[in-house]
Amino acid sequence: MPAFAVIGGQWGDEGKGKVIDYLAGRVSGVVRYAGGNNAGHTVVNDKGEFQLHLVPSGICWPDVYGIIGNGVVVDPESLLGEIGELAERGMDTDKLFISDRAHVIMPYHVALDALEERARGEAAIGTTGRGIGPTYMDKTARMGIRIGDLLEPESLRPRLEQTLNIKNKLITAVYEGEALDAEEVMEKALEWGNRLRPYVHPTEQLVQDLLDAGNNILLEGAQGTLLDLDHGSYPYVTSSSPSIGGACTGLGLNPQAIKGVLGVYKAYSTRVGGGPMPTEVFGEAADAWREMANEFGVTTGRARRVGWFDAVAGRYSQQVNGLTGMVLTRLDILDGFPSVKICVGYRVEGQDVKRYPSDTRILEQCEPVYEEMPGWDNPTASATSLDQLPDNARAYVNRIEELVGCPVQIISTGPSRDETILVEPVIP
Ligand code: IMO
Ligand code: MG
Repeated sequence: MPAFAVIGGQWGDEGKGKVIDYLAGRVSGVVRYAGGNNAGHTVVNDKGEFQLHLVPSGICWPDVYGIIGNGVVVDPESLLGEIGELAERGMDTDKLFISDRAHVIMPYHVALDALEERARGEAAIGTTGRGIGPTYMDKTARMGIRIGDLLEPESLRPRLEQTLNIKNKLITAVYEGEALDAEEVMEKALEWGNRLRPYVHPTEQLVQDLLDAGNNILLEGAQGTLLDLDHGSYPYVTSSSPSIGGACTGLGLNPQAIKGVLGVYKAYSTRVGGGPMPTEVFGEAADAWREMANEFGVTTGRARRVGWFDAVAGRYSQQVNGLTGMVLTRLDILDGFPSVKICVGYRVEGQDVKRYPSDTRILEQCEPVYEEMPGWDNPTASATSLDQLPDNARAYVNRIEELVGCPVQIISTGPSRDETILVEPVIP
């Protein structure tokens, strides 16, 4: 039986956590395949409100496996903290498993993330500071520490000593930072290994077994397609592959197992950190929008940049992922806007740009071409069926569907699990 992916269609923070929690009742496992605790996924249901960073967003369904795949980078301190908080709130983490192949975010990765950002100065990416980039760098440089390594103290020690020796030279001589104490790092690593041991598993086998036994699973995307290392606005991207390709490599999953790819889009745009965002709104209008919509990061608390729906970027991510359906979230935030705008094209120096440019310098010059549509006064907030939506809101959804090029299957009208319109079934 198949896997269904839930992928960010924009720059992250599209509401993937809510969508996963809503759909997880129909699957046996929820699986993270990329990113790390740079993600901040919010889940609201009858058990309360949960902010998740590494634990998959199906955690409120006690019978559902939560799996952290090999493509994820894991900060053990953050994960153990999250597991502890969930346990305190009576949530069961018995069905949580972590790939032995997942790479570990070590303290020197977190230190280097901050130092690298400082060194970039004006050109800083605006990372979450969680050590994501430096950890993926070490993975590809073949000098990473994997979760499985934490369970093997004897072989870990010489590798860690060698690595830390190099990292400390980099930290002190290049970035003028403070060296880390090798013994302290080693002690931490051993403690993490002991505490994480019960969760460590060859998760690619678990995923395959679940599928072979006829179960559905959900692939939980983190970040968004426009932050993809290859397909996003490089270098203002994250260091992993949030788009669909990442799900195969990040889990050891064969592509034929994936029967549906759901792209999650906010009904407008937000972006946190640097990089081009052609439909960004500035000034007081942006401040009011941000306050009203509470657009502040779950992970870092930073103010998110806000703007209109960008259908050029939206269509591009539809194509990159081969989306079979769309989820439109936070439609209720636009309730009461006198009019709403959709970006249907870009212009650079008077020339039309039809496709999302790969060159970030061009993207930075893109001016949006808008289509303006009338707003709606009657609220969409908390609506649970299409016929509760005002005509103008439906027209807005239809236009987005047309421009992005795939059907809207779910509309979210509030943060809670039940504030959802299922337009058409996603998982049989
Ligand atoms: P979720 O899963 C929004 C952004 C950072 C920065 C860039 C690189 O909640 O949608 P990194 O720390 O990954 O090296 O930062 O990526 N970013 C996110 N923005 N939502 C996220 O995750 C993000 N994860 C990373 O702000 O611009
Ligand atoms: Mg987030």
